[in-house]
Amino acid sequence: MRFALEKSAEHLEKGLKLEQEGDLKGARYNLLEAAAFLYKAAEKSEPSLKRKRIERAESILQRAEALGQRLAGKPAWGVIPQAESAGGASEWMVFEKPDQRLRDVAGLEEVKEQIRIRMIYPFTHPELARRFGIKKGGGILLYGAPGTGKTMLARAVAGEIEAAFFTVKPSEVMSKWVGEAEQNIARLFSEARKHERAVIFIDEVESLIPRRRDSHSTVMQRVVPQILSEMEGFASGKESGKALLFMGATNEPWALDEAVLRPGRFDEKVYIPLPDFEARLEMLYFHLRDKPLSADVSLEELAQMLQGYSGADIRRICEKACDIPFVESVKTAEERDVEKRDLLSVMQQVKPSVSAKALERFERFASQR
Ligand SMILES: Nc1ncnc2c1ncn2[C@@H]1O[C@H](COP(=O)(O)OP(=O)(O)OP(=O)(O)O)[C@@H](O)[C@H]1O
Ligand SMILES: [Mg+2]
Repeated sequence: MRFALEKSAEHLEKGLKLEQEGDLKGARYNLLEAAAFLYKAAEKSEPSLKRKRIERAESILQRAEALGQRLAGKPAWGVIPQAESAGGASEWMVFEKPDQRLRDVAGLEEVKEQIRIRMIYPFTHPELARRFGIKKGGGILLYGAPGTGKTMLARAVAGEIEAAFFTVKPSEVMSKWVGEAEQNIARLFSEARKHERAVIFIDEVESLIPRRRDSHSTVMQRVVPQILSEMEGFASGKESGKALLFMGATNEPWALDEAVLRPGRFDEKVYIPLPDFEARLEMLYFHLRDKPLSADVSLEELAQMLQGYSGADIRRICEKACDIPFVESVKTAEERDVEKRDLLSVMQQVKPSVSAKALERFERFASQR
């Protein structure tokens, strides 16, 4: 699998370079190879990574197809031509004002408190923060298994301080960054600085800031130091009174460049574990409270049984369980509640998406920090 991933990265790099040089045919060939190797790697990946790798492969494939269209003399769809893309940041940079709050995130009490101390209280209580010399803002890295609420937490932080929320997803943007990575990063940070309060969130941060020695990519060799220095400037909060936070999330913390973990960059590295009993109960309550539930459903009992499941799994189980009586009610014209057997039958189908092995690796990494 390692081989397929490396091959994919090599072809991608080459493809993007050729495209920049105007060799569309060569570029297309390499992008197709890159996508094919990535699909191959995806096949052998565990479910969570599999999904991401397939998405990434699809975005590469899209770009290859667009090249094909250009080769055939048709207008390119889905891709803004290089010359025009300077104004097209909306393609890769998403900007919004989330309405989520930290209280919407189930469990993770310690993590939420850590986030409040570092990122919320200093902005809601600036006078106190000044008196006690509390540093404002900074960088925080969330790592852990997929579906544990990392993205949700990042949005909730922005929601909590009513900040502008900038998201960048490397897998979606990398193919659009040909020769423009430096400008794009500079622009991302300068856009964020225009706001009184802003959160920059980079998902899959390991693919943007990989260990340099592992990466064959020359783009990465140039871009990583730039991101690191932007991060330092951003996180140090030089602009007084401004709230600028930088958050990253990853499922592969060990693949991150070491330098990014130093203070001044990601000051806090926070492990996001699977939900504990209380958190599972909270989630079940959240998803099922307004549904017609039969008396034989005990949320406590379910929460016990759902040990090992992620927040995303639990949401899925609740949704699928509600489908069963819904469909039956439609077909029989006789309405019935969600019963215990519905939840149990869905649990038979939906297994925990995070393997014990993957979990162990996270825990080992967390204990070494
Ligand atoms: N702690 C939580 N509290 C409430 N809901 C949660 C929690 N964790 C996960 N969920 C549910 O699972 C969904 C997916 O979570 P989210 O996208 O935040 O996970 P993630 O950790 O960012 O995953 P990935 O690593 O795949 O990006 C959320 O939209 C939410 O419905
Ligand atoms: Mg996420």
